[in-house]
Amino acid sequence: MKKDDEALVKAAKAVRAHAHAPYSHYHVGSAVLDEKGRIHRGCNVENAAYPEGTCAETNAIGAMVAAGGTRIVAIAAVGGRKRLEACTPCGGCRQRILEFSNRSTRIILLDSKGKLRRYTIDKLLPASFRLK
Ligand code: THU
Repeated sequence: MKKDDEALVKAAKAVRAHAHAPYSHYHVGSAVLDEKGRIHRGCNVENAAYPEGTCAETNAIGAMVAAGGTRIVAIAAVGGRKRLEACTPCGGCRQRILEFSNRSTRIILLDSKGKLRRYTIDKLLPASFRLK
C-alpha cells in the first residue's frame, strides 16, 4: 500500500509535466489505481473558453473508465504553479471520485511540506449526494 501510494504520487508528478495551463499557470497531475492494479493518468487541460477546462482528476478518471476500470482503489493528485503546493480536489472532482469509490478508496495528496497524506471520500465529501 505504501509502495503503491508512492508510485501513484510519482506517476501524478510525471504527468503534471504535460498539463495545459496557460491561463492559471497552475499545473496538476493525477494518477488512479484501479481494481485491476492498473494506473491511469490525467493532467488539467485548460481552454480559452475558461469553463471548458478540465481537471487532472477528471481526466484520470475518464482514462480509467475508457480502459474498462470500474473502481478507484487509490487516486493521487499533485499541483502547484512552479513548485508543488498543497492541492486538494475541487468540489466537482470530489463528486466524480465518489462515483467510483468505496470506503477504503485512498485519496492521496501532498501537504504544504510535501508530505503524503491519505484521505477517504467521506472525509473530503461528507453528506454527499448519491442516487439510490
Ligand atoms: N485543478 C485540477 O486540475 N485539479 C485540482 O485538484 C485543483 C484544480 C486545475 C483546474 C485549473 O486548470 C487549475 O487547476 C487552476 O484552478
